[in-house]
Amino acid sequence: MLTYFIKTFGCQMNISDSERIAGLLNSINFQPTQNISTADLIIVNACSVRQSAIDRIYGLSAKWLKQKQNNNFKTILTGCLLDLDKKKLKPRFDLILDIRDLNTWPPAIANLFSDNNLCHTNYNLQTTNYLGVKPNYSNSHTALVPIMNGCNNFCSYCVVPYTRHRETSRPADEIIKEVKSLIKRGYKEIILIGQNVNSYQCPHSQINFPELLRMINNLSGNFWLNFVTSHPKDMSDELIQTMAQSLKICPYVHLPVQSGDNKILQAMNRHYTVQHYKKLIKKIKHNFKKYRIGLEKYPAISTDIIVGFPGETLKQFKHTLRLAKKIKYDMIYVGQYSPRPQTTAAKLKDDVSKTEKKNRDKILNQILQKTNLKNNQRFVNQTLEVLVDKCNNQACFGHTRHFKNVKFDSKNDLTGHKIKVKIKQAHDWNLLGELIS
Ligand code: SAH
Ligand code: SF4
Ligand code: F3S
Repeated sequence: MLTYFIKTFGCQMNISDSERIAGLLNSINFQPTQNISTADLIIVNACSVRQSAIDRIYGLSAKWLKQKQNNNFKTILTGCLLDLDKKKLKPRFDLILDIRDLNTWPPAIANLFSDNNLCHTNYNLQTTNYLGVKPNYSNSHTALVPIMNGCNNFCSYCVVPYTRHRETSRPADEIIKEVKSLIKRGYKEIILIGQNVNSYQCPHSQINFPELLRMINNLSGNFWLNFVTSHPKDMSDELIQTMAQSLKICPYVHLPVQSGDNKILQAMNRHYTVQHYKKLIKKIKHNFKKYRIGLEKYPAISTDIIVGFPGETLKQFKHTLRLAKKIKYDMIYVGQYSPRPQTTAAKLKDDVSKTEKKNRDKILNQILQKTNLKNNQRFVNQTLEVLVDKCNNQACFGHTRHFKNVKFDSKNDLTGHKIKVKIKQAHDWNLLGELIS
């Protein structure tokens, strides 16, 4: 048997794609190895959102090119890549394959290893849609389930529409089938993923995103339901009400705002105003209050914000700070603006200095620290359900339905279990608790 090692960069979509690559390789007589230096096949699953991830591929491949003189391994590059980067990286890899063609990879891989057997053994994918390829899940209790791929929004800073192309939604029956089989296997948390999950539209029926959520929520089983990422412009009233009414959906809403200034939002091509965004958050909070009980009435809110977009003045950045204070976020994923080729913003002057971007990032994080600590304090003395992610000899680490990290002492390995923890202390980034036996 040949061995493979997958190096994944980027978001949950890429992690999920790597699970499908692994599933495919396992079905054609490969087996995974944790040791990159002994792998017969190295696959790099790339991300282009920031230049830094692309730069790291150059670094890594330089290392392999040196090793390759002694070893006989093969390398494949795939993932979110611009044509321009593919061209530049081509000499450093044996093959560049498009993830959307995953079901056609086996013959190309067989060719690479001059081993025709590779595409005969168990290679019966019966799908033309790459999301239909059976994944090899990397986690035993939380599963990522892709429901759509690609993006039609062309935010002026973002490469995703160029690397993942136009939006395509996965058939609802296929999604339901995957979720059902996960629940049967004992998965405790399902995360639906896609670049814009809330513009989901089943290609074979009228099923939209709220309907899909209702269908999954109605499946029997005790599982948590989450989804990322939503775009504010597609956050309909129907969706907000469905989220609040579907009790398996966690009280955690990730809604990227990107900026708290209308001029910048316009330059980013985001198609909403700060006022509209604030109304959405208000509606979300109102609906959870109406339909949920106890702590579930107060959903955690998280967002993505880009600092130092071209032309962002100090005043405009202060508008973002004002918004962050008002919303009282539980999490902000801050991105320091990085110009990306092919995007429309790349034509604008990247005029906020690196130091200033770093500074704005820091200030925003200081605000987050304060709002988050305050939010975390409401959990003190409460007993929460915790899904345990990992344990060492002394302690376990997990997360709650509000997506709060929890640490508690335990001599037993409770990984993958849902247990009750009484929260004793709230910190900036996590909660400390005691296991309730
Ligand atoms: N479709 C998702 C994910 C997009 S990429 C969404 O709409 O949120 C994830 C995040 O990376 C974005 O939300 C944005 O905050 C950040 N990002 C994208 N392009 C960037 C760039 N050129 N520079 C800095 N951050 C960027
Ligand atoms: Fe990028 Fe915008 Fe698409 Fe998100 S919605 S992936 S930020 S273009
Ligand atoms: Fe990166 Fe692609 Fe995701 S560019 S952020 S891996 S969609």
